[in-house]
Amino acid sequence: MAEEFKIPDSKRSKKKRYEILLQQIESLLENERDVIANMSNIASVLKTTFNFLWVGFYIVKGKQLVLGPFQGPVACTRIEEGKGVCGTAWQNKTSVVVPDVSKFAGHIACCSESKSEIVIPGILKKKVIFVLDIDSSALNTFDEVDRFNLEHIVSNLLKYSDF
Ligand code: SME
Repeated sequence: MAEEFKIPDSKRSKKKRYEILLQQIESLLENERDVIANMSNIASVLKTTFNFLWVGFYIVKGKQLVLGPFQGPVACTRIEEGKGVCGTAWQNKTSVVVPDVSKFAGHIACCSESKSEIVIPGILKKKVIFVLDIDSSALNTFDEVDRFNLEHIVSNLLKYSDF
């Protein structure tokens, strides 16, 4: 149950914190099939655990990504395919890790405090149906540990929700 969610101690390693989160996220998802409810709780858990600047989802609607459940400052509502980090992850059907957003050509600055970013696409039947986007106010925040674990979270979201 959401009320029993235990935020891992910030003194633990990032890998260990993800490990603890993954188990708990899985039990949250096992009890709920509504995608908006599940995206909302995932955004909350990631924001609270790691204190990222912005955590949220963009959902594919026609030829655009449209803002979905998120935690953090107000964000851009629509992104075209191939545009920005999110649109690139959508177009290439692959996760994108950006150590320094000022060096990513075409980066869309929804929030001026954002310094690094990671985007994970949610792929169902070979089609991207949403992306998970996370922004950090520090440079070089995201690495292979984040990519691996966030991809795991996204695959669980796909497995346990109705689309
Ligand atoms: N920076 C993203 C836009 C979304 S915000 O970060 C919330 C991008 O370049 O696609």
